[in-house]
Amino acid sequence: GAPVEVDISALQPGQKMTVEWRGKPVWILRRTPEMLASLKKTDNEVADPDSKRTAYPIPDNCKNEWRSIKPEYLVLVGICTHLGCSPGDKFQPGPQPSLPDDWQGGFLCPCHGSTFDLAGRVYKNKPAPDNLQVPPYQYLSDTRLLIG
Ligand code: FES
Repeated sequence: GAPVEVDISALQPGQKMTVEWRGKPVWILRRTPEMLASLKKTDNEVADPDSKRTAYPIPDNCKNEWRSIKPEYLVLVGICTHLGCSPGDKFQPGPQPSLPDDWQGGFLCPCHGSTFDLAGRVYKNKPAPDNLQVPPYQYLSDTRLLIG
């Protein structure tokens, strides 16, 4: 599949957009400072905090605590690593149906209940075996991404 160019200039803090790459949804989430701070809290609750598992190796330029080139912009393949459903947005922290009371915001897979934090890291003891995939991407400018 060809790389996909994306204009992210209209994306507001806390918003997510979806583009298609190789027939898959790719999410771009513009994280707020609060969302970025939540990753420190979820570090101990996720199964693979440093993305060491190798089913979906993380690109070299995203090997950091944010799992992204720029902390603010998270880019993920929006497909659950369990059986391929697409997790839904649960950005709001706090109690919500089928989420823990100390939920920090993230994504919930509707199929078998895997949860992911705001870096796409899977929580412990969930069926999904791996974090959400970070696709290869680069910045063409401050507001343009090339995915693939
Ligand atoms: Fe997502 Fe099973 S497909 S938890």
